[in-house]
Amino acid sequence: MSVKDLLKLHGKPIREVYFDHENSGWVPPEIVEAMLPYFNIKGYGHPSITHKPGWEAYEVVYETKELVAKTLNAENYEQIVFTHSGTEANNLAILGTVFANKHGKGKIVVSAIEHLSVIFPAEWTRKNLGFKVVRIPVDEEGFVDPDILAAYIDKDTILVSIQMVNHEIGTIQPIKELVKVVKDINPNTIFHTDAADAYGKIPIDVKEINVDLLTISSHKILGPKGVGALYVGPKVKLESIIHGQLSTEKLWPGVENVPAIAGFKKAVELTFTSFEKNISKIRKLRDKLLKGIINNIPDVLVNGPLGDKRSPDNVNTSFLYVEGEAVTVELSLRGMYVSSGSACTSRILEPSHVLLAIGRKHEEAHGSILFKITRYHTDEDIEYALEQLTEAIGRLREISALKPYK
Ligand SMILES: Cc1ncc(COP(=O)(O)O)c(C=O)c1O
Repeated sequence: MSVKDLLKLHGKPIREVYFDHENSGWVPPEIVEAMLPYFNIKGYGHPSITHKPGWEAYEVVYETKELVAKTLNAENYEQIVFTHSGTEANNLAILGTVFANKHGKGKIVVSAIEHLSVIFPAEWTRKNLGFKVVRIPVDEEGFVDPDILAAYIDKDTILVSIQMVNHEIGTIQPIKELVKVVKDINPNTIFHTDAADAYGKIPIDVKEINVDLLTISSHKILGPKGVGALYVGPKVKLESIIHGQLSTEKLWPGVENVPAIAGFKKAVELTFTSFEKNISKIRKLRDKLLKGIINNIPDVLVNGPLGDKRSPDNVNTSFLYVEGEAVTVELSLRGMYVSSGSACTSRILEPSHVLLAIGRKHEEAHGSILFKITRYHTDEDIEYALEQLTEAIGRLREISALKPYK
């Protein structure tokens, strides 16, 4: 059945609650409002050109960089490079480091649960340039063991890339400790962390944790899609990996997505206003949902750690004896929008590599459902979610061909 047919069949549910902010989501009206003038009222010029619409565009780009730099405790706005997505920022971090490496060979270490926008460019250097790429394992909660990491660092290790928060299971890595492990053995190894899922969820201080490169993405904090950023620390030499007409950005040529950057600026402002209060609200909602699932529904596995070691917005559970695809469709009909680590829901052929890396079996990964909670969610949303989820899983298990519910 085509997507058009599916949409035609989809009635209007009584209530709609969106939980798929991992993949992307709706943009709050105040953020959309902040973007609109930059389409045709002001700042619609090219930020590199010297006329008023160009200067206005430059101003919002510059102000956003300053703001982002401040929230990361970076030295200055020049350390923030805008790209058009978190994927591009991760590619710039990995390929940019590799292309700047004059020896042309070396070792790259990544964790087994990185986002594919880290794993794939690393693998590209292996296939095409002969780099050695090591994917280090994680434990059953998704943590990298510092001793295992240490064993792979030597004089040839040019780059380590370990994410700050896992996008699927919410594991918060002890990045400061991992950077120290690496730098104590080889101070020249560049440490990149993909913080796309950490930014705006946990405090980040680039000086304190001593990372060299750090990725963020606008739509992960309710900003518009199409803006990513890479923090580039003072000691890092990167080579541009795309080529074209220079903009204000030497490392990422091409005109900046100025309206989206204006939206990103608003998203950053809103995220970091009352940060602690918002995070504490989100964490309470997370715990209410997680507790409700465990109490209401039998045969559930929690994926990832619990408590403070888990991102405040992340709930990921595997419902045994059901298919994630069936759950996402059933919930969609009930106005609840979630995603699954099942291969079928994401148009990817393999089940989530993250869930497999923490030791979940294929069928457990197929039954996983991911919820991301934002400051806009309410207690009523969580209660509705629990009610619908309990009914949906119960109904699907009644008709399930899988043991023991057949
Ligand atoms: C951890 C992580 N890294 C990178 C990305 C890619 O960011 P973008 O969607 O902006 O390309 C995502 C997106 O979901 C992510 O969760």
